[in-house]
Parts: sequence; structure tokens; C-alpha cells
Amino acid sequence: MGYKVRFVDPARNYRMIKEEIDKAYFEVMSKGDLIDRQHLRDFEANLAAFVGTKYAVGLNSGYDALHMSLRAAGVGLGDEVIVPSHTFVATASAVVNVGAKPVLVDVGKDFNIDCSKIEEAITEQTKAIIPVHLNGYMADMERIMELANKYNLVVIEDACQSLGASMLDEKAEGKKKKAGSWGLTGCWSFYPFKMLGGYGDGGAITTNDPDVALFARRMRFNGEDRETGEYHGHGFTCLLDNLQAAFLDVKLRYLPEWIKRRQEIAKRYRRGLKDLEDLMLPHYDDPRRDHVYQNYVVRSKQGDEFSNYLKANGVEVLIQFRKPYYKHKALQLEDRGFPETEALSKEVCSLPMNVEITDEEVDYVISVVRSFYSK
Ligand SMILES: Cc1ncc(COP(=O)(O)O)c(C=O)c1O
Repeated sequence: MGYKVRFVDPARNYRMIKEEIDKAYFEVMSKGDLIDRQHLRDFEANLAAFVGTKYAVGLNSGYDALHMSLRAAGVGLGDEVIVPSHTFVATASAVVNVGAKPVLVDVGKDFNIDCSKIEEAITEQTKAIIPVHLNGYMADMERIMELANKYNLVVIEDACQSLGASMLDEKAEGKKKKAGSWGLTGCWSFYPFKMLGGYGDGGAITTNDPDVALFARRMRFNGEDRETGEYHGHGFTCLLDNLQAAFLDVKLRYLPEWIKRRQEIAKRYRRGLKDLEDLMLPHYDDPRRDHVYQNYVVRSKQGDEFSNYLKANGVEVLIQFRKPYYKHKALQLEDRGFPETEALSKEVCSLPMNVEITDEEVDYVISVVRSFYSK
């Protein structure tokens, strides 16, 4: 169906920055610089500077970033890794695919891992924790780092949905630190619909550890040191393309401005919807953390009735996720009972949130939501 307001509109986004994207395309193509060239190095340097880490290594996807991080940390057979029960399945799949066991922990009202429930999930086998910064809002990294230090756990941040989000770090003289700069690695996805989306799959890790950066640089090339030709282990083919890096580098320059726009849209939704009692909005008013609104996820007690009404009235919405991933039998994951995940899964609905959308379109979404509740 043709929607009046699209969830995202990649073609409209392209038109906004067409000149620079086309210039990047012609530059890469006319030089024939496809694999591991200057654009990739430039993008990696700019990404690391943006996140506030020493290194960034471009990979094929967010999944590859998680997988590579677990490998770099030496997580494998017999190890347990703590992951949230509400996230995209790739967080847990990366753990399973290195031979380890994901141990799920419920989330809180902000959709992120509930730190008060982490300790009860830690066993002798626990080697790592993967906090996910979902929807553009960071998990409580101060608390997570405390627990990781106490139990000697590796921290791998799944920051795929939160590029640019930050949190106050009391230990860093009260400065804010960005998502992806706290743990051993930060894992990034440049899937087209992400805050920084490419034109196909893409990903990266950020890290301050030179050994982890070197490991990832070699392993993304099947273990090969490109200068000496020496293989340093059995690796993977998961390098970020030079062309994608050139596009992402253009978009990265816009990101600070685009984050502000997302925050403005969130404010507009809040003003227009805050009096609706049956609708929970994603505003947490924690002065320690900035929300960058990768997604604007509301919770409606009316569940599918609500989301179907929006769709029927021309508003394209996304449901992530009605069926929690651990309920998919083929994944063979242990369901220890996650009441908050169960409750929110019945209610979540992501409203259109992107930098292409106009104020008038946001107002239209607000009017449709309000008309649902005045029925
Ligand atoms: C929280 C989270 N983790 C991991 C991923 C995996 O990223 P990709 O799709 O680039 O493999 C995604 C994105 O889809 C994500 O949202």
C-alpha cells in the first residue's frame, strides 16, 4: 500500500545529499578504489574520532562486529555471555556462533538490560556481557562497568542502534562518554535504516585496544596481514567496502545535525501525545544520558489494534518485536521468564523517525494517533 508517511525514505534522504554522494561515487569508481583504500581509512579515522576511541575497523555488518569482538575476546566453547532478552536476534546469534551460550536477562522500562537482574545470571562460566543500547538510548554503562570489574567480565557494547548517544561517566571527571567507547569494543551496524546507514550492509568495531584492532584488521581479510602476506589464524571475509566507506564518510559529517533533527522530532511527538494515558512514550528524563532516537518506540495497550489502525490510515510503522526472539523454537534459547520483555512485546510500535520526514508529516502521525484514542 502507498503510505502517506513512510517509516523511512532512503530515496528522499539520497536527494538531500545527492551532490556529495554522487561525487564520492565518481571519485571511487573513476579510481577503481574498491578494496581497502583511502576512503575506508578516512572513514575509520573519522568514526573513531566521533565515538572517542583510538581505533575503528570497518566490517561487513553489525553481526560481524559482534562476532569479531567475541573472537577477539577469546570467548568460545563452554563460556556464557549475558545478553538482554529484548534485542535484535544477532546479539545472541553471534554468541551461539562462537560456541558459547547466551544467558538472557530481562530489560527495564527503557528497553535496555535491567542491571538489577544481571548478578543473578552470573555463573562460574560467565565470560562476557553484551549490553545493547537499544533505539538510541544507552544502557546504564556506569553500573555495567562496575559489575564487569567486580566479576572480571569482558564488555562488548552492541551499539548498533545508538551512534552518537552518550552517558555521563563519573570516573571521567563527570564527562559524557559516547556509546561504543566504554567496553572492549563498540559494535556498529550501517544497515540502510540505521542512524548512519549505508547503501547495503556494513558495520565496524571501535576500540581503544591496539591488539583488538589489529586482530580485526587481519581477521576481516581471512587472517592475512596485507603487508607481509602472513596468515595469523583462520579468519573471515568481512571487510567494509571502500565505496560504502566513502558514502558513510559523507553521511557521518551530517550526523550531529541529523541527531539534533531526530531529537526535535521526538520533542514534537512528545508535545502532541503526552496527555494520552494509554500510550507510553520513550522519554526518560535522565540527565546522565542523551537519547538520539534511532527509533521512536511507543507502547500502546491496544497492541496490534493500534498499529493496524496507523497503517490503515497511511502511517507506516514497524513492530520490533511482537514475538520475543527466545520464543522462536529453532533458536533453542533458554526462557527463564522475562516479564518486562513479555509485556512490552505486546505493546511496542515504532513511529516514523528519520531525518527525511517533514514537520507536517510528524503532525499527521500525531493526528492519526490522537484519532485512534478518541474513537
Ligand atoms: C541491536 C542490534 N544488534 C545487531 C544488529 C546487527 O546488525 P547488522 O544487521 O548490520 O548485522 C542490529 C541491526 O540490525 C541491531 O539493531
